[in-house]
Amino acid sequence: MPSPFLIVAIDGGAAAGKSTTARALSARFHFLHVDTGSHYRALTAEMLRLGLRATEAAEVERALAGLALGTRVEGRRAHIEVSARLVPETELRGPEVNAAVSHFAAIPALRAKLLAYQRDQARIAREAGFAGLVMEGRDIGTVIFPDADFRFFLHADPEERARRRAAEGQQDSIQERDRLDSSRKTAPLLCPPGATDIDSTFLSLDEVVERVSAPIAGRIDAA
Ligand code: DC
Repeated sequence: MPSPFLIVAIDGGAAAGKSTTARALSARFHFLHVDTGSHYRALTAEMLRLGLRATEAAEVERALAGLALGTRVEGRRAHIEVSARLVPETELRGPEVNAAVSHFAAIPALRAKLLAYQRDQARIAREAGFAGLVMEGRDIGTVIFPDADFRFFLHADPEERARRRAAEGQQDSIQERDRLDSSRKTAPLLCPPGATDIDSTFLSLDEVVERVSAPIAGRIDAA
């Protein structure tokens, strides 16, 4: 019997190891990798480009209504297109977006715009012939795919996460973003009930990947 199409949700705070883990799963199991943080970053970059602030919720909502979202699959990775434009990585991960993204991500209309788009990534993965979808973010196991086949929540001490971001050469106020992301009303960052909670502070990334991969490999082998 062919293996079933699998959906894997990976949630956690900034620099908790989500991207490295998701990339490794995507390579090992041929899953489409979708980083939903980049969706919030792309819409934030677009709003900043239009000269809007997160406090101007009505204007942001109007601007969002005029945007068409698309997907470009490159290798095993899906990238969001905002009105047919791919936002460059340097802009997505730059200091302006880092500082503003949690504020824009708290706007319910902006989250609503991404909900159907993110759920539709499963269809895109299936149609492109992937064996599954690995989606990382803050609310994947709680809101986007609460029925995912596997749901993981990664966390690590703030000092260790700051060290990881610095090693990537990035300037990022991780704790402040986590505070905003955890305290917002709509889809706050929290460990979904029933998800596998992994503290990666004292684990190497290889060990984290192994813990996350083992049950998935078990399911595929049993199919
Ligand atoms: O994963 P990241 O650090 O690139 O995410 C950037 C911001 O996007 C994060 O501070 C909060 C927001 N985000 C969110 O609210 N929900 C998600 N599923 C993913 C990211």
